[in-house]
Amino acid sequence: MRLPGTMTGTIMKGNHKLFKSICQRTVSFRCLSSNEKPKMPPCDFIPEEYKGIPYEDILNIRKTKLSALLTYYKKPILAHQGHMQWLFDHEGKRYLDLFGGIVTVSVGHCHPKVIEAAKRQIDRLWHTTNIYLHSPIHEYVEKLTSRMPGKLKVAYLVNSGSEANDVAMFMARQYTGNFDIISLRSGYHGANPYSLGMTAHSAYKPGVANGFGCHTTMCPDVFRGIWGGSHCRDSPVQTIRTCSCSPGSCDAKDKYIEQLKETLDTSAAKKLAAFIAEPMMGVGGAIQYPKNFLKEAYEIIRGKGGVCIADEVQTGFGRTGSHYWGFQTHDVMPDIVTMAKGIGNGFPMAAIITTEEIARSFTQAVYFNTFGGNPMASSVGSAVLDAIEEDGLQNNCAVVGTHLLLELAKLREKFEIVGDVRGKGLMVGVEMVKDKKTLQPLPAEEMSLIWEECKDNGVLLGKGGLYSNVFRVKPPMCITKEDADFAVAVLERALIKHKETISR
Ligand SMILES: Cc1ncc(COP(=O)(O)O)c(C=O)c1O
Repeated sequence: MRLPGTMTGTIMKGNHKLFKSICQRTVSFRCLSSNEKPKMPPCDFIPEEYKGIPYEDILNIRKTKLSALLTYYKKPILAHQGHMQWLFDHEGKRYLDLFGGIVTVSVGHCHPKVIEAAKRQIDRLWHTTNIYLHSPIHEYVEKLTSRMPGKLKVAYLVNSGSEANDVAMFMARQYTGNFDIISLRSGYHGANPYSLGMTAHSAYKPGVANGFGCHTTMCPDVFRGIWGGSHCRDSPVQTIRTCSCSPGSCDAKDKYIEQLKETLDTSAAKKLAAFIAEPMMGVGGAIQYPKNFLKEAYEIIRGKGGVCIADEVQTGFGRTGSHYWGFQTHDVMPDIVTMAKGIGNGFPMAAIITTEEIARSFTQAVYFNTFGGNPMASSVGSAVLDAIEEDGLQNNCAVVGTHLLLELAKLREKFEIVGDVRGKGLMVGVEMVKDKKTLQPLPAEEMSLIWEECKDNGVLLGKGGLYSNVFRVKPPMCITKEDADFAVAVLERALIKHKETISR
């Protein structure tokens, strides 16, 4: 139910109890003075009353029948409804969703344009295998490939990011006739047995055989890594490190490239199938590489017969603000691009885009996928592309993201435990440390104190990084400057509270 401006009698008639509860919440934000609780920006959307399974029963089912799933927060949120950047729980409490279902809600929860497209298609045709012709898939790939530069013109549609990376591995091996694949340590590329080999984060490694032919090289992390300075990355905020590189050169980049060369000399076969990297690490904690690292890495890999894969699962679709695709921020041209998450704004879909030449070679390996690009997914995907453009979301990422980064950087100046603020557009990381001298990761219990406090005050943050000490901010791309200010104020308050608790 949508309400223009103020609350009207419609709601009172419809659900008096819910209305009262929401009003109380709204009032509680309004009544507090600014030095107490930051005021949540207004939202005129009123969620429906929750009538699902009781909270306690849900917890029980989850524990006994879904026990493999990780749950965020001491008292997990029961998400009931979403509206653009807002998430509502079963009690009608509103949250600013800065994690967007893990960087997946790109244009906004239940975006009206996407709903309309899905509803139109659901009444017409849900599914038919792609061995028949249907209009949505053709319309979609025309649109999607028109957003790719250069020779990247042939699309394969699948269902998840892991699957997209599996296909990319298969494709690279088929095309080059080589087997070895190189990825960056701390990177995440999926959890399927095949793509897991490229994921270099022990938390996701199950201890069963995986990764035959996959090798990793040092993560070029200019904040926590061995090398890094104060000009390395493409971000409005640089690290607190110093550097003495002459203009136009970057020692950190050179050193990490040497590491890559050493990996190739010692661990990999002479000829390579592929190199894969995210343009900015997602699960790894918004890690940005030194400028030109990817450019040089691509040259080296190609020199050994390999193709270059850009994993755009988190960085694509305008999120970095300056460009539509993350790889463009590095001025490189991949041979294969994989994408998922934001591609469907939460609809399970993913894609691989490559050149005609690689696609032609892949025809020898009959690749079939039942659901990939089905009419529903294709219609949703088309609407997402339209919404990004019509709502000016790439530009919003640039404007709001830069503002957010600069405001967060002020917290780094104020608090010893805020070690790094980094990112680009609305792909942001805040790395928490014990202190700026040792850079030891902030212990998990202290991370939790801050994180839970933010949630209690209406802001949902993600966590990531090898040591789970990075707050990840990757919201729906429609958030406003006002939302960003609110989030920073909530985080600041949580940091103050943490300081008081620790010094007690
Ligand atoms: C960069 C990257 N690649 C691939 C994947 C795997 O995507 P999915 O979870 O849809 O399989 C993820 C998921 O977090 C990711 O962040």
